This record gives sequence, structure tokens and C-alpha cells, in this order.
Amino acid sequence: MFPRTIMAEAIEFEGVEISFGAEKIYDGVDFTVGDGEFVCLLGPSGCGKSTSLRIIGDLLAPAAGMVRVNGQPPGEGWKEIAFVFQSPRLAPWRNALSNVLLGAELRYGKAEARKREAKAMQLLDLVGLAASAKKYPLMLSGGERQRVAIARALAVDPSIVLMDEPFSALDPNTRRRLRSEIIRIWQETRKSILFVTHDIDEAIILADRIVLMSNKPTKVIETIAISSPRPRDPAKDPQLAAIREKLYALFRAMEPESEEVQAA
Ligand SMILES: Nc1ncnc2c1ncn2[C@@H]1O[C@H](COP(=O)(O)OP(=O)(O)OP(=O)(O)O)[C@@H](O)[C@H]1O
Ligand SMILES: [Mg+2]
Repeated sequence: MFPRTIMAEAIEFEGVEISFGAEKIYDGVDFTVGDGEFVCLLGPSGCGKSTSLRIIGDLLAPAAGMVRVNGQPPGEGWKEIAFVFQSPRLAPWRNALSNVLLGAELRYGKAEARKREAKAMQLLDLVGLAASAKKYPLMLSGGERQRVAIARALAVDPSIVLMDEPFSALDPNTRRRLRSEIIRIWQETRKSILFVTHDIDEAIILADRIVLMSNKPTKVIETIAISSPRPRDPAKDPQLAAIREKLYALFRAMEPESEEVQAA
């Protein structure tokens, strides 16, 4: 095993293949997430974005290829990982603070979680909810609940945070606000983030690098590094506008109608 200090990659996928029954989902998927990097995994619905997070979390084993989490197989690296899903999945009978502690409680037990209470309060503060620690999920807005889920993910002190379309169920304004907040939190905590989305603009606003997946059988068709400073506005930044154009064209080329047009 390599010591943590010399590892450059938080996540590595090399020639990863996976099938469900007779259906081939991945046809050799390669990508990396560097230590401290913010990578967006972008691709059409059903191409296997969530599947990649399940593989990283050791919930699913690939048929072929290599997956490494901080240089280790997923079965050993999963402790470095925390998830944030599309819906916050909070326990309704627990208040915000107690929900933040839930992940630590499940991993390390109640006694250890109790010791992390001060840290959990700091995390609620980090996500702007220090004053709402005693509120139950029903008393929180959708955006606030998703902030609790982010604090809960950070409470197990992961080095890698996997996010699966975490803002897609929120209204546009809340979504915009939470995008800025996740960038601020990432800059403050320096976690490695793999953020799944099918929203081109979201990927452009957030990512250091965009990994674009094809339709099934899935391969990575482009990796695009974005150097524009944040906060980003694709309407005012020519580099972002060009990347946006390119991604829209690549998505259009993947649509079934355009295949028919080409075949005709
Ligand atoms: N347990 C399973 N059994 C059979 N097929 C599965 C299973 N899990 C996923 N699939 C299939 O694998 C493909 C990839 O699924 P996945 O959920 O990773 O897609 P996705 O890119 O996250 O899509 P979306 O953007 O809609 O969330 C889909 O076609 C899905 O139907
Ligand atoms: Mg998905």
C-alpha cells in the first residue's frame, strides 16, 4: 500500500467494464479525480453516472478494469468517502444536528458520534444553518435539508465527497445559491469532489475538469479542463461560452434523432 502523501489521485478508473444481465453498461471507462480536485461527471440519462459512484463506494463490483480510491481497492478505500444524493434522505424524527451526526453514528457508534457534536455544529455553521440545529426536517426548506445532508457527509471527515445530482430537485434560485456554497465549502475544506450531473451549465460553473460520458455502452468521450476563475458566468466568459457550445454539440450528437438523421 502506498502512503497517502505520495498519492496524486483520489479516484482512478482504468478500463472499467460492467454489465447488468446481457446489457453492457460500461465499455471500458477511464477517468481520474485528483487529490483536492472538483470533477463533474457529465452524461446523458442512463449512461452510468450513478453506477460509477456505486462502484467507488464498493456497492458494486466491475466485471473488468481497475478502480482505486486513494490508491486502494474500493473495499478498503470506502472509509474515505461520503455521499450526497439527489434527495437529502434525512431521518424525520431527528433534528438537524442529530441528522448531521447520523453518518458518524452509523460508522463509529453513538459514543464516538457524541464526541463529534461540536464538529457537527461547526459544519452546520459552514452550511449556514447554525441557528437551525434544533429544527426537524419538516421545519426546513428543501435547500436547507440538502445543506444538512452536505454537513452530514462532511461529518465523517471523508477525503472524498461523491455527489449525485444533489441540487436537481431544488428551485433554480436555491440551486444557484447552493452551487456557490458548495464551491466555498470545497475551497475551505479542500476535499476531492466527484459531482454527477446531466446539466451542462452546472458542470461548467462548478468543475475543475468535466468528464463527459457517452451513451451506453459507455466510454469517456472527452475530458475538459476549465481554468476560468470562480464565480463563473458562462454568459460573460468566452472560455466558458466556447466549452458550453462544444458540450451542447456533443450532447446533440448523442441524441437518438441525430443517429437516425445520420443513418438516413
Ligand atoms: N441493478 C441494476 N440492474 C439492471 N440494470 C441496472 C441496474 N442498475 C442500473 N442499471 C442500468 O444501468 C444503466 C446506468 O444506470 P445509472 O443509474 O448509473 O445511470 P445514470 O447515468 O445515473 O442516469 P440518470 O442521469 O438518469 O440518473 C441504466 O441503463 C440502468 O437502467
Ligand atoms: Mg443517476
